Amino acid sequence: MGRGLIFSVVSCCAMLILACSTSSEPRWNGKNYLAHVKLDSSMLLVTEVAQNLEVPWDLVPGPDGWLYFTEQKGTINRVDIETGEIQNLAILDDLFYRKSSGLFSMALHPNFDIHPLVYIHYAVAEKDSNFLDLISSKVVQYALEGDSLINPKVILKNIPGNTYHNGSRMLIFEDKLWIGTGDAGDTRTVQEIGTLNGKVLRIHLDGSIPDDNPYPNNPVWSTGHRNIQGITVGNGKLYASEHGPNNDDEVNLIQKGSNYGWPDVHGFIDLENETAYSKDSVTQEPLMAWTPTIATAGLEYYNHDQIPEWKNSLLLTTLKGRSFRVLSLNEEGDEISKEHLFFQKFFGRLRDVAVGKEGEVYLATSNMDWHQGHQPWLYDSLPKSNGDRILKIQIANGGIQRQLATLEKPLLLQEEFVPISLSPEIAKSNTSDKDLDNGAKLYGTHCAACHAPDGKGNVGQIPPLVDSEWVSGNVARLIDVTLGGLNQPIEVNGVQYQGEMPAYKNLGDNEIRDILNYIRTEFGKTKGNIVAADIVHQRKGLK
Ligand code: HEC
Repeated sequence: MGRGLIFSVVSCCAMLILACSTSSEPRWNGKNYLAHVKLDSSMLLVTEVAQNLEVPWDLVPGPDGWLYFTEQKGTINRVDIETGEIQNLAILDDLFYRKSSGLFSMALHPNFDIHPLVYIHYAVAEKDSNFLDLISSKVVQYALEGDSLINPKVILKNIPGNTYHNGSRMLIFEDKLWIGTGDAGDTRTVQEIGTLNGKVLRIHLDGSIPDDNPYPNNPVWSTGHRNIQGITVGNGKLYASEHGPNNDDEVNLIQKGSNYGWPDVHGFIDLENETAYSKDSVTQEPLMAWTPTIATAGLEYYNHDQIPEWKNSLLLTTLKGRSFRVLSLNEEGDEISKEHLFFQKFFGRLRDVAVGKEGEVYLATSNMDWHQGHQPWLYDSLPKSNGDRILKIQIANGGIQRQLATLEKPLLLQEEFVPISLSPEIAKSNTSDKDLDNGAKLYGTHCAACHAPDGKGNVGQIPPLVDSEWVSGNVARLIDVTLGGLNQPIEVNGVQYQGEMPAYKNLGDNEIRDILNYIRTEFGKTKGNIVAADIVHQRKGLK
């Protein structure tokens, strides 16, 4: 069946040479080949558009031949789809970048040619009086002039933030800006319409609130989301993907004023407590849920003729699941009828997907992010390519197929039917006895002279580490104090101190990890649980 169609495409092109060389025909110059993929009848080509990136978070094709993208650490860029040239448009200087917070999503004005406006969502932070980061996020509109973003205007601010679960994706649809957020670690307020975390938000492009929002003078459109990572529109319907806890990642159909259940309902309403909860509170069930979780991320509706097998489907990238999935929809778009699986483990973690003007598809990898340092046991292998990449999937028409035939090392991939088995997401303590012994030694060398070998310090002079909230409490603050030192009036166990603690930023990530896990288990009665990636990210956050 497939073969017949390929031949007919080839012969059609041979006859219509002119038609084949028009700009709308998928072209390829033979470079940057990664693989090709066989669908039922179409053949797809996968090439590399950009490499050496660091966590490209959001991909947005512009009407101008550029693919706009954000990187988590605060750069806004665009890449020329044909030549691969990358231009940096802005570097955010008030960004808070740590773990999974930083620069998130982006949207372009619907009439970008006339109004070259770029909307971005990113995290910021201030230190409070306890030396803790008060993290929030904001949506800012920039104007593109030449190759720079200028005139920042804050559209929405004070979205509760954290070093994790900030979402986000944005989308402009019906001239409104839609923003999917995360719970920001505060599950208590996700159900409340008075807060912006764990919601889909809907505002005008100037930040004002539409009259027809479900709650008066309120940007909230739907509630009960845990951590939205994908949002898209198809057939006039809004879909979003979100991360579940250790179970039930979801793809949802987003409806006005609906509650998606978090933290009380995970996935479908199929447990006793979920049924009980849903008696009093109307909860919207997902279109699809995944346990074990795959970390559903970028989501894009596909309905282009270029890849007929994917028409009327949702394209989904997954992070932990390291796959690209095509979710075929029914005609009404309110049910997922089939799930197709591609590229498992092949490109590693995939954060975003976007569809270009001609029906080509772009993917962004996310192998440089915090997660693999945080849960290394989940990743038996990640591609060690040159940083993160942007990939392009396009139809391999006759011309491209002829070029494929001349390749020395062609790599033909197929749909996979069975998901790769993922290691369980157990709350494993990463602290081995060997690491703790090492931590004890390093503590003796670097800290014991002041804080005393038994961690009790010297009352009134040097604060104790034993039973100190600074040791057993907020990990980010503990790492910050060790890396950056401390010189401010503090209170530990009811006693005031105002001394000077030196900075230890010259110690390595593993050394600091071991010292801190040692003092947390020995003096702080915790499990330790600090990983080297935590130190890496705190370091990056300390400017
Ligand atoms: C030169 C003496 C000195 C050394 C060495 C030193 N500290 Fe401190 N540390 C202090 C002082 C003084 C403070 C209180 C600072 C203030 O008042 O702002 C402090 C505060 C702290 C605190 C917060 C308050 C508390 O008691 O919980 C932590 C945690 C801490 N130190 C950990 C460490 C670790 C870990 C090391 C070794 C890597 C270390 N310190 C090495 C002097 C020292």
